[in-house]
Amino acid sequence: MKSELYDKLGAEQGVHRIAHHFYVNFLKDDLLRPFFESIDIDQQERKMHAFLTYAFGGNSLYTGKTLRRAHSGLVINQGLSTVHFNAMMACMAQTLKEQKIAAELIQEVITILEYQRNNILGVD
Ligand code: HEM
Repeated sequence: MKSELYDKLGAEQGVHRIAHHFYVNFLKDDLLRPFFESIDIDQQERKMHAFLTYAFGGNSLYTGKTLRRAHSGLVINQGLSTVHFNAMMACMAQTLKEQKIAAELIQEVITILEYQRNNILGVD
């Protein structure tokens, strides 16, 4: 399954570049960086690449953890909250802008990631 959004973002290479630059920017943010102190960032980048490929319609199969499961411990033990989610979304928008992605595509990406807000911040 291929979608227009995935292709417009540059398909495999483009989404790879986005995932990479996203974490370069993410780690510059004092609010976000502490969450990744003991995380292998290359591995995380690969996981995010897999998720974004799926979310943008480049692949219909995502075999990683559900986002709720991946983040519930962070909410409970490290205080992951709305303020971090919002900072992450701003970081993604900034990354896409730096990659010269058109404003309407940035909006599409943000809308897609917004759907995950409750999964990431809800705990269960
Ligand atoms: C739309 C927003 C987000 C998306 C799409 C996303 C995506 C992901 C994905 C795909 C994983 C890997 C799951 C797996 O292990 O299979 C993950 C893990 C992780 N995420 Fe997020 N995430 C988001 C928001 C955040 C935020 C706001 C933070 C913290 C500021 C965060 C911190 C982490 C950390 C620390 C891990 C590693 C957990 C571990 O390995 O124990 N995420 N995320």
